[in-house]
Amino acid sequence: MKVPFNNLKPLHALLADELEAAVQRVLASGWFILGPELEAFEQAFADYHGVAHAIGVANGTDAIELALRVADIGRGDEVITVAHTAVATVCAIEQTGARPVLVDIDPTTYTMNPAAAEAAITPRTKAIIPVHLYGQPADLDALTDIAARHNLLLIEDCAQAHGAKLNDKRVGTMGTMGAFSFYPTKNLGAYGDGGAIITNDSQLAERLRRLRTYGQSSRYIHAERGINSRLDEMQAAILAVKLAHLDEHNSERRELARLYNETLSGVTIPVERANAYHVYHLYVVRHRQRDELMLAMQKQGIGTLVHYPVPVHYQQAYADLGYPAGSLPETEKAAAEIVSLPLYVGLPPSDVETVARAVNEWTNVTEVGFEE
Ligand SMILES: Cc1ncc(COP(=O)(O)O)c(C=O)c1O
Repeated sequence: MKVPFNNLKPLHALLADELEAAVQRVLASGWFILGPELEAFEQAFADYHGVAHAIGVANGTDAIELALRVADIGRGDEVITVAHTAVATVCAIEQTGARPVLVDIDPTTYTMNPAAAEAAITPRTKAIIPVHLYGQPADLDALTDIAARHNLLLIEDCAQAHGAKLNDKRVGTMGTMGAFSFYPTKNLGAYGDGGAIITNDSQLAERLRRLRTYGQSSRYIHAERGINSRLDEMQAAILAVKLAHLDEHNSERRELARLYNETLSGVTIPVERANAYHVYHLYVVRHRQRDELMLAMQKQGIGTLVHYPVPVHYQQAYADLGYPAGSLPETEKAAAEIVSLPLYVGLPPSDVETVARAVNEWTNVTEVGFEE
């Protein structure tokens, strides 16, 4: 591959000494679950966000599920989210027994359309989960207002947006809870699975700490049912090292995105929301002949992917949710036209230029083709 879609090795090489020291420390400690490394990471992650609590869990899907469960949301309740997301958002809602209600996106930012969310509210609605997709903050100005007016819980899905900001506030701090994934490719990625919930609410935090370990209130004493969802000591130690470099890595992502923006022509480039600090988990462009563009890139050894090619309501697994073709038009149109270009920490700027030039050459030829 001339330019792979993603490559985690350059980032590891940058931090190898620190990471290896952290892993050695855990190996020698003889303590692997719910110990001092997790406590230290949780404190650092809470401090980074300026919130009172961070609770480490096993993955981002569990983070959303547990956030809903501690708010007593489950069977008989409805939770509004988008179909244009990783299927995990919807999976987490269903893990609680609640029904996911899917709404359309705003076509320029690819995030939840607040008017569509408000129109979907019923007497059974209990929560709204906007997704800060690709690193772009959702419209939380409008959504926090809607949630407050309708007395709904707002949980932010921050899986793709560690460190992103809106009006100078970090994502995850504007709703009642923020849910994060530390899947290895995320802006803050573990070396395995991981997740966390952040909140300022001490009661919710205490209950989250119980529910992640079978509902234990003290050793082998269970006041309520929970699950097993813990962030282990090894991952916590690795994440603590990487958290200290998150802002620097996000700046690098933004710089690479700026270079793409300046160089690309003939495709629709990402639009950053006003007052937002987008952290470019993914660099997503748009073109009506997306499939041909991907094929042309593949022929030149350039990796591309689509996030996501089949919206949740079009997935066979979720056909019974009952959203026919055409029910979420902006989601459906975007899914047919978007493509993610290579962007990762350690991607040489010259590779961005190579990709952008290859895209530009293809669009030039394609435009000429249209005129004939
Ligand atoms: C938007 C979004 N929400 C939730 C998740 C779930 O995270 P995890 O894979 O850690 O369960 C992911 C990541 O896959 C995601 O991208």
